[in-house]
Amino acid sequence: MKIARFSRIGFILAAAGSAVGLGNIWKFPYIAGEFGGGAFVLVYLFTVLLIGFSIMIAEMLIGYLGRKDTVTSFEELAPKNKGMWKYGGFQGLAGLFIMIFYSVVIGWIFNYIVTSIFSLPATVEEAEITFTTMLHTDFITQLFYHTVAFIWITYVVNKGIKGGIEKLNMILMPTLMLILLGMFIYATTLGAFSQALEFMFSPDWSKIDSNAFVTAVGHAFFTLSLGMGAIMTYSASLEKHSNIVKNAFWVVFLDTSIAIVAGLMLFTFLYQYGGGPAKGPGLVFISLPAAFYEMGIIGNIFAVLFFIALAFAGLTSSVSLVEPMVQYFIDRFKWSRLKSSLSMGLFFYLVGIIALLSNIEGFQEALTWGDKSFFDWVDYVTAAIMLPAGGLVMALFIGFAVEKSRVEAVMRPQLRGAFEIWYFSLRYITPVAMFIVMLSLMGAI
Ligand code: PFF
Repeated sequence: MKIARFSRIGFILAAAGSAVGLGNIWKFPYIAGEFGGGAFVLVYLFTVLLIGFSIMIAEMLIGYLGRKDTVTSFEELAPKNKGMWKYGGFQGLAGLFIMIFYSVVIGWIFNYIVTSIFSLPATVEEAEITFTTMLHTDFITQLFYHTVAFIWITYVVNKGIKGGIEKLNMILMPTLMLILLGMFIYATTLGAFSQALEFMFSPDWSKIDSNAFVTAVGHAFFTLSLGMGAIMTYSASLEKHSNIVKNAFWVVFLDTSIAIVAGLMLFTFLYQYGGGPAKGPGLVFISLPAAFYEMGIIGNIFAVLFFIALAFAGLTSSVSLVEPMVQYFIDRFKWSRLKSSLSMGLFFYLVGIIALLSNIEGFQEALTWGDKSFFDWVDYVTAAIMLPAGGLVMALFIGFAVEKSRVEAVMRPQLRGAFEIWYFSLRYITPVAMFIVMLSLMGAI
């Protein structure tokens, strides 16, 4: 059977589609806001370059050399202790777990696309009531849009790498970039643009503590889609003789620039029409719609376009979150693609309903443990434990387990003089950083 492979541009768009997600447009601006802007942005950029880029290359390399699902790739590449290393491939599970809340959030976005056509909240207070009412009481609306997300994502994944995932990304990614660029250009004409620039780039180091640092590293991983087998699975469908470094560069570049463009645009609107940079997850669902309201009719158009772009970003990431485990069941258990996509889809859909319920009044209490609802727990466990663990395993695997000669044969011609720096960073810098992040996010330090 001929294996479908990505075209070069298809791969870059798909991997960038995975990386550019809710993390860039929803999460990055609000955590940057929480940590006071500039200094946090610089720490984040630094970690993306130092750690993110080198792990991205390692993850692409494992997929490219392994050519199979993540578990088989680890197993086949490990020179010894195959039985142990293959567990490294189960990082793909993290993607499915993330989907549990990711799909619910995409559902909120769908809802916002529809409601923004007709009306926007006149004040931040009103916007807050709209959002929290949906979140805590409106089970049916959330369920409906979560179902739409589930059907769309499962449909695309079922069509496979070429006919589903590549196609989706070839259409959605350029559209998303155009929308953001158009709105960004508009933002640059507003007086508040310079305030947004100042907020994002002039560092206030007093806001930077170990917590900010750890959040930046954790977010660098999340936003680049590292440590969950997504990039690895896509890379298994790379053409022979692909240039991994160039591909990795493009993905990191697109992901980072889109986060910055989105951040600058949002903060400009918030300074110009709202009360300045809002903090917290409500930024795009609460403060932003109220700012759009102030713009008049153009605000409605912008709101709809913005939420469409956000939905596209979420959908292209979602297919990459599901694909690793879908591929796993196809390769290892010889499941058909339909059976595998549908089973993985149903898993995140059904458990997603529990996550959704955990925010609904009346169910909240039963579905909350300690200080977190089930929804928040899933976010926390994936981000704090699974994702850095996946990164750590990959760094150790390429740095120590796979023969250096094998790694060198592919990477030295591409990295040339930088090969040793990359290899050193994988062996020593990244594992230590990952370990510290994990301990700290788990509250041990
Ligand atoms: N990178 C995506 C975002 O920024 O929203 C989220 C994500 C997608 C994480 C795929 C991990 C992954 F494998």
